[in-house]
Amino acid sequence: MWRPPERIRWQPDPGIWPTTAEAASALLFSPVQVGPLTLAQRTWVPAMVPWRATDDGFVTPEVLGWYERFAHGRPGAIVVEATGIRDIPSGPLMRIGDDRFIAGLTELTETVRKASGGETRLFIQLLDFLSIRRRPEAAKYFQRFLAITEQHRAAISAHDWSEQAVRDHLAAMDEGDLEQVLTPRELEALRFGYRERVTDTDLAHISDLPAVLPDLFAQAAQRAMAAGFDGVELHYAHAYTMASLLSRLNDRDDGYGGTREHRARLPVETIRAVRKTVGDDFVVGCRFLSEDCIDGGNTVDDAAFFGAEFARAGVDFLSLSRGGKFEDAKQPAVGAATYPYTGPSGYECMPQFISDARGPFGRNVEPVHRIRQAVRDAGYDTPVVVTGGIHGFQQAEDILRGDQADIIGFARQSLADPDWFHKVKSGHGEAVRVCEYTNYCEALDQKHVPVTCKLWDRVDRDAPGVRKTPDGKRRLTAPAWEPDDG
Ligand SMILES: Cc1cc2nc3c(=O)[nH]c(=O)nc-3n(C[C@H](O)[C@H](O)[C@H](O)COP(=O)(O)O)c2cc1C
Ligand code: SF4
Repeated sequence: MWRPPERIRWQPDPGIWPTTAEAASALLFSPVQVGPLTLAQRTWVPAMVPWRATDDGFVTPEVLGWYERFAHGRPGAIVVEATGIRDIPSGPLMRIGDDRFIAGLTELTETVRKASGGETRLFIQLLDFLSIRRRPEAAKYFQRFLAITEQHRAAISAHDWSEQAVRDHLAAMDEGDLEQVLTPRELEALRFGYRERVTDTDLAHISDLPAVLPDLFAQAAQRAMAAGFDGVELHYAHAYTMASLLSRLNDRDDGYGGTREHRARLPVETIRAVRKTVGDDFVVGCRFLSEDCIDGGNTVDDAAFFGAEFARAGVDFLSLSRGGKFEDAKQPAVGAATYPYTGPSGYECMPQFISDARGPFGRNVEPVHRIRQAVRDAGYDTPVVVTGGIHGFQQAEDILRGDQADIIGFARQSLADPDWFHKVKSGHGEAVRVCEYTNYCEALDQKHVPVTCKLWDRVDRDAPGVRKTPDGKRRLTAPAWEPDDG
């Protein structure tokens, strides 16, 4: 993972934990209205993909175990991991693109309801993404993938050469010379692997996105409703289709790119289509970026505009992440695909303890504050969720008391200790396993292997009933916690 060059080592500091009485009067543990629903407290477990679904996207006992463990801590809400809305092979990503996925997802909602005593509300994150291929071997790229054009022939004065001769010549050229011959997209396909963009409108399925996406999201939301979820979170963040449409880098000229209004158009049309399908009694929210954190990408001003537009379109919550883009990702090894969390924008998304002078804790708070204010100024009281390096009670409480956000997202902190909410609320804050922000979990995520936390995945691993990774080396969920005083 990329880290800021300053390399300052930070230690998480959760500060003083509240007594039971202090927790009882805390804003953090007070209810909040989210559209038609009330969350019992303003705590939130944001979406985290743990790579536990089957290779064809179904819920497994390991998926159930993962969410059951979070539900035991009884946060206000849990957002189930990014789940693909199309009925296409997507590796071990969870899927909701067909009715055959409903049965497994129903089991999931029932599991969470039971484990949290009905206290925790459950949403599912709906994801669309474009195609990306692995980085090819250079020889294969020149022999098989590159389409030879007149521009290539002109650049190497090879108008009457056979295609094979052109391929062989290009394959023998050095990197510097290739830069004069290949287009930037061809160079990217060689160095990183081919990746589709929302701006590739010469491809019919990309130009057709406005015609297909609203319905795909709406149908997925309907399935989520059938499976018993309390709502959906439309994934408009990071490196995926909707975030790419929102980005300043989207210069589509068909009314869905260019100006902010046009970039917001398909995301807004999608919110409307989803709402029309599920009605007003089902929560519809979205997650988007407070900043793209890449050259030429969206700023907080763009996000403030989008926040107000999404609120106007009727979302029930706005959840803000940051960064996590392809544009600045590290070059993958040959045979691997580019991973969007490996560059500076990836750092902003999941900041690690080795950081710059700002540190990894709460980097998203100030931008989110500005976006929330813009939404309020536009006349909407839509609740806003902030996430990023939040692990302490006082830190969370200060954000709420300062009207910087309405709900606090704890992603890695919940993974480090899914009982955080229960422990802090019951006056057992000193028993919290505080996240060290090492990103050990994130490295597992990057390899698409089951995500666990280094603070507990080897503890009591051989105790009876403990489910482990296929290699038997790591337990899959955190050990149970019982307070000393019962
Ligand atoms: C293992 C892992 C998987 C993640 N998967 C998702 C995801 O599916 N969707 C999403 O929007 N964010 C995802 N994230 C980002 C988190 O939701 C969160 O925004 C980020 O970790 C920063 O919050 P934190 O500092 O509280 O961990 C993931 C993070 C981790 C560590
Ligand atoms: S492995 Fe555990 S301690 Fe390290 S960042 Fe992930 S959740 Fe935090």
